[in-house]
Amino acid sequence: MRWYRGAMMSVGGWLLGVAVGVAQPLSGLPGATMSAGQQYFGRYCSACHGMQGRGDGPVAASLRTPPADLTRIAQRRGGQFPLEEIAALVDGRSMVPTHGSREMPIWGERFAAMGGGGTVGEEVVRGNLLVLLEYLQTLQRE
Ligand code: HEC
Repeated sequence: MRWYRGAMMSVGGWLLGVAVGVAQPLSGLPGATMSAGQQYFGRYCSACHGMQGRGDGPVAASLRTPPADLTRIAQRRGGQFPLEEIAALVDGRSMVPTHGSREMPIWGERFAAMGGGGTVGEEVVRGNLLVLLEYLQTLQRE
């Protein structure tokens, strides 16, 4: 089991490294350098929110609630980007269901399942949210 825990700790370290902004060059695409945040966003979020985060992804039209324009998260909150609040929104597990059902996936559940649940699952949730939130902050308009 010791090798396993060690491996998981280095995954955690890697996620933290990414979260503080180490750009991960995307191999295979000539000249293209994408940050991890941009890659995650492209994979998990762009279908609805669009690659630029403006709420115009290919799936947007088929949703009952239009996906939020993610370049205006701070603008909608008087220029503030409240990390905890946005993390909880994206995670979704602590949200009280209000009107109708939420159309955005409960990312906390998905990311935890990707990590196999338990403590490792929670680490994956935390790591992914950090990477994604850092990227979202770069998208904010003045
Ligand atoms: C299936 C479509 C869909 C996907 C995929 C999706 N979202 Fe959303 N998102 C929505 C919709 C629709 C809303 C508007 C609120 C609601 O109905 O849930 C929303 C709202 C949000 C908000 C709230 C914005 C605000 O200012 O209150 C944030 C933040 C957000 N999404 C981030 C993300 C991130 C990060 C991802 C990728 C991990 C993602 N979304 C993936 C559909 C989606």
